[in-house]
Amino acid sequence: MKYTKRTFIYPIFERFWHWSQAALIITLGLTGFEIHGTYRLVGFGNAVSIHNTAAILLLVLVAFTIFWHFATGQWKQYVPTTQKLGAVIRYYAIGIFKHEPHPVRRTRYTKLNPLQKLVYLGFKLLIFPIMATTGLLYMFSNTLGIPISPIAFLHVLGAFLLISFFVTHLYIVLTTGRTPLTHLKPMITGWEALEEDDHAAPQAAPEPSAD
Ligand code: HEM
Repeated sequence: MKYTKRTFIYPIFERFWHWSQAALIITLGLTGFEIHGTYRLVGFGNAVSIHNTAAILLLVLVAFTIFWHFATGQWKQYVPTTQKLGAVIRYYAIGIFKHEPHPVRRTRYTKLNPLQKLVYLGFKLLIFPIMATTGLLYMFSNTLGIPISPIAFLHVLGAFLLISFFVTHLYIVLTTGRTPLTHLKPMITGWEALEEDDHAAPQAAPEPSAD
């Protein structure tokens, strides 16, 4: 028999870095494309100062977040696996539209399904490093005496990849739950109703810690 159990899944620091990273990336995206000349919002000069400040804040946040992932062992959530990867891709392409059950059950020990592990790891190891490296080279291109156009090209390319991730992420969060708030609320409150089998109850997770 299956039942749902309210489980503490996102500790406070994880929610803090998730939402501050989101706010900083939105700010960087909005000001970045003003710098690029796509539209006018706050004026070019302001866009540059806001972009530079948000970029430094993001780099500091990421440094703390990397430390947190290693200090708590949460980095293990992102170790990629091919097990059930095909089943999850098939589910999001076909199964979900036929109301089939999700092929992977979420627990506080495996918060991410194989597709999320791969995509989030790609974000951390590919997209973010591209943005940070090209952004810092852009910032110090005068001092370093390096040409700006290849750097700007890669920075904008990374920005497009990041925006594609962001749009897909939002779409999936808001449309695949029972209601649009189903997947959003746990990242605000820390608690999520997770499905469990009857026999899993005696080995239920220990009391949540505040780490
Ligand atoms: C991670 C740290 C980041 C750093 C250090 C950084 C740094 C910079 C710098 C120094 C500039 C040039 C500003 C100027 O003209 O003086 C710039 C431009 C830009 N940034 Fe970033 N940035 C970062 C993240 C982001 C993110 C996350 C996005 C998008 C979501 C973004 C999008 C852009 C865009 C579109 C431009 C305009 C490029 C052009 O057309 O030349 N940046 N960034």
